[in-house]
Amino acid sequence: MYQINDNYQKLPGSYLFSTIAKKVAAFTQANPDRSVIRLGIGDVTQPLVPAVIEAMHKAVDEMADAATFRGYAPDLGYEFLRRVIALEDYRKRGCAISEDEIFVSDGAKSDSGNIQELFSTDCKIAVTDPVYPVYVDSNVMAGRCGVYNQDTQMWSNVIYMPCTRENGFVPEFPKETPDLIYLCFPNNPTGTTVSRAKLQEWVDYANEKGSVIIYDAAYEAYITQEEVAHSIYECKGADTCAIEIRSFSKNAGFTGVRLGFTVVPKALMCGSVSLHTMWARRHGTKYNGAPYIMQRAGEAVYSEAGKAQLKEQVACYMKNAAVIKEGLTAAGYEVYGGVNAPYIWLKTPERMNSWEFFDYLLEKANVVGTPGSGFGPSGEGYFRLTAFGSYENTVAALERIKKL
Ligand code: MLT
Repeated sequence: MYQINDNYQKLPGSYLFSTIAKKVAAFTQANPDRSVIRLGIGDVTQPLVPAVIEAMHKAVDEMADAATFRGYAPDLGYEFLRRVIALEDYRKRGCAISEDEIFVSDGAKSDSGNIQELFSTDCKIAVTDPVYPVYVDSNVMAGRCGVYNQDTQMWSNVIYMPCTRENGFVPEFPKETPDLIYLCFPNNPTGTTVSRAKLQEWVDYANEKGSVIIYDAAYEAYITQEEVAHSIYECKGADTCAIEIRSFSKNAGFTGVRLGFTVVPKALMCGSVSLHTMWARRHGTKYNGAPYIMQRAGEAVYSEAGKAQLKEQVACYMKNAAVIKEGLTAAGYEVYGGVNAPYIWLKTPERMNSWEFFDYLLEKANVVGTPGSGFGPSGEGYFRLTAFGSYENTVAALERIKKL
């Protein structure tokens, strides 16, 4: 008789956004006359920009012709895409990352879930609290997190680094030394971030302790302040301690078409073993590459037209962020984030926990958000709204919230 991977049985409930989707579906079924505005999951709403669409059409035509048809993509991704990423995202920012340190994939979610495979199950992870649930859940599935305590909503073998208003949402170095440190800046879910100088402290800490930082930079396109780093490789010494994960979902609206990449520097070594070689081996074995059409679309993101069009798209979402931030502040809420990120993190009104506020907002204003406690115990008493809705819906949602 076969046995299952018992670690899956340890996972509490369903994935956060699946739970929310089910709750919203039940509400809309019971109240078909209400128009629900969804500011919950961070999913984009604007169409792909013309430069990207044009590149996709061209690539589709190439696939229709035997002379230009492409089969399996190279393991690491097409050189045309890796070259432009290395130049635009790294070398132009003074980061010495080369194209063969970039691994193209189908998105940051899968990479951030899969990257833990490179490490021993004895490794101890540290996460900010609240945190994007994928980092923890993927380590639970691998058997790295110990036992879940329903009361504290914490795993016995995970180091939590609380990020609350008391510490300005900036994680402090943990008392116990972690092996793997997950950092996401600008942060999902809090929408806050840290300065380049603070990030340098984390890089120095990881190098000193012999830890690896798994750095999720999916929201870098939303950075507006000069003192915030777009990449961890802007920090000295990051190439010996950090892996960076990037997405085309938030900067270019690829949530439905999928493209991302991960940087594993060649200087990142565990003794004599190269993590770059390990990830290349994994990629080669388990992955057959992102579609050619999507890699051409990704290349178009870096064209002059693509850059200009996407700058406008990001600005539209940030206009929504300002609407939410200003609207909530005017309505008396305590509000964070929304300056370098498309997420607004608010304190729930007195006496309401995160899920109570979720239900209240859904029932009374027909607005969907994300309960902070879904991201970890320190998210209790907070709530997340996304700026990825349409401008009209965002304005309408705030009008409804102000009337509560
Ligand atoms: C979120 O809402 O946190 C994100 O959309 C999740 C994701 O990017 O996978």
